[in-house]
Amino acid sequence: MRRNLVVGNWKMHGNISSNQMLLEQLIESLKDCKNADYVVCVPNPYLHQTRSLLQKTNIAWGGQNVNQFEEGAFTGAVSPHMLTDLGCSYVLLGHSERRVLFHETNLSAAARFDAAIKAGLTPILCVGETLAEHDAGLTEVIVASQMDAVMATLSDEGFARAMQLNMVFAYEPVWAVGTGKTATPEQAQEVHQFIRQRIARRNTEAASKVRIIYGGSVKAQNATQLFNMPDVDGGLVGGASLNAEEFSAICRIANSHTSSNCLS
Ligand code: 13P
Repeated sequence: MRRNLVVGNWKMHGNISSNQMLLEQLIESLKDCKNADYVVCVPNPYLHQTRSLLQKTNIAWGGQNVNQFEEGAFTGAVSPHMLTDLGCSYVLLGHSERRVLFHETNLSAAARFDAAIKAGLTPILCVGETLAEHDAGLTEVIVASQMDAVMATLSDEGFARAMQLNMVFAYEPVWAVGTGKTATPEQAQEVHQFIRQRIARRNTEAASKVRIIYGGSVKAQNATQLFNMPDVDGGLVGGASLNAEEFSAICRIANSHTSSNCLS
């Protein structure tokens, strides 16, 4: 049985005082929710604050991206070891905003993925099609190319390492990110199943274990239906992760799929 996972992606939001309020509320409302995993991916300048508040809680934290190099003259970049130094256990890779706004490619996602697992970070690889690709019926072609670019560069050893670290896939249709438009549970399930089948081509056991989370306008009001789908193992939440009540409601829904000990 896969444990549900809910990841909050704060994107470029927050300040020291709002972060503190948000995190303190999350700590309080999730402290008894033991049946799913919770992560917040915060802007780099707040990783230190996040670590101070979240250590010894059941909420993990991570970066929103990472550079593939260990160190050097790469102004503005952050290395995998800088993230682990700050206690990160997760890192988002290949987010659509990185691909679209910062022109990151499949190749660079592959290099970052490799660097992340070498440093012991659990990679959350984001894949998903744009509206034009969706309308042209290219969803599976795009998702497959984004996955294959990373999987093809992984040696068997690298693949095993990624599995040891519980690598995560996030399906985020670009047309559903920040638009208030969510994929229907059936649409999400179809793509999640496709992703799982594609992993099975490499390793069937891994495919049954890997968590595939959905992102794109996830809210408390649509989380139950999405998380009810057999191949949807939780959510990657943008806007709603900035609101403690809304985000913890989503986390509680993820928790309650396997539990009855977290009051909702
Ligand atoms: P929204 O939940 O705001 O649509 O953002 C989704 C996302 O991009 C999470 O990474």
